Amino acid sequence: MTTPLIVGNWKMNGLSADLGEARALADLLAQRPHHARAGLCPPATLIERMARALAGTEVLIGGQDCHAEAFGAFTGEISAEMLAEAGASLVIVGHSERRATHRETDRLVRAKATAAVEAGLLPILCVGENFAQRQANLALDVVTGQVLHGLPQMLAGAADAGERVCIAYEPAWAVGTDLVPTIDQIQEAHATIRAALVHGLGPAGRDVNILYGGSVNPHNAREILGAAEVGGALIGRASHKAAEFIEIICAV
Ligand code: PGA
Repeated sequence: MTTPLIVGNWKMNGLSADLGEARALADLLAQRPHHARAGLCPPATLIERMARALAGTEVLIGGQDCHAEAFGAFTGEISAEMLAEAGASLVIVGHSERRATHRETDRLVRAKATAAVEAGLLPILCVGENFAQRQANLALDVVTGQVLHGLPQMLAGAADAGERVCIAYEPAWAVGTDLVPTIDQIQEAHATIRAALVHGLGPAGRDVNILYGGSVNPHNAREILGAAEVGGALIGRASHKAAEFIEIICAV
């Protein structure tokens, strides 16, 4: 079994003053027994300072998105290599908010995940159906397609693929809503994603962490993280305060 991974996504939240929460999280992790690896994805403006503030601690730092190209005339964009240089070791790609508001396609998400792997970052490839797709019984087809079309092709057949990519199953209707799928629905989606990973990567697909994300909080974390094939979580709102986030990390 791979080590569970619990990652906080601050989205467009966080100013210098909030670096204290990141530091508090690192201090709590040093005191509390836990089994998971923990990471924080602050806005890009804080990555370098957070990396400095948390140097020598076990908290991983990540970006929330990256561009598919390494450099060039792409105003406002940030490349995976730039994130890595700033101190990131993770990057979220294909988050449902970007798929919805920036019209990101599987093709683009794959290019971003590939750029991340090339820069030495661990991409957290987000997949998940929207509410209409869930209602139409299409959830499992949607996540299978997103995994197979989003995985970096260079990882197919790689024996170490399990350490070079992870998936986050985040049903769009559960993100930011306080709606949570049933444990059966989570397990069904994760089993489907596992099958797609093995199909797409080969045997190393069994080693890939599949995170669950969408309205995880300290009250539901233990049950969700204990479900079959759940190898961690991606946390939005409940990752802002160290005192709350630590309870989720320690729920594994
Ligand atoms: P939430 O967000 O925990 O606030 O629902 C999850 C996410 O967007 O990853």
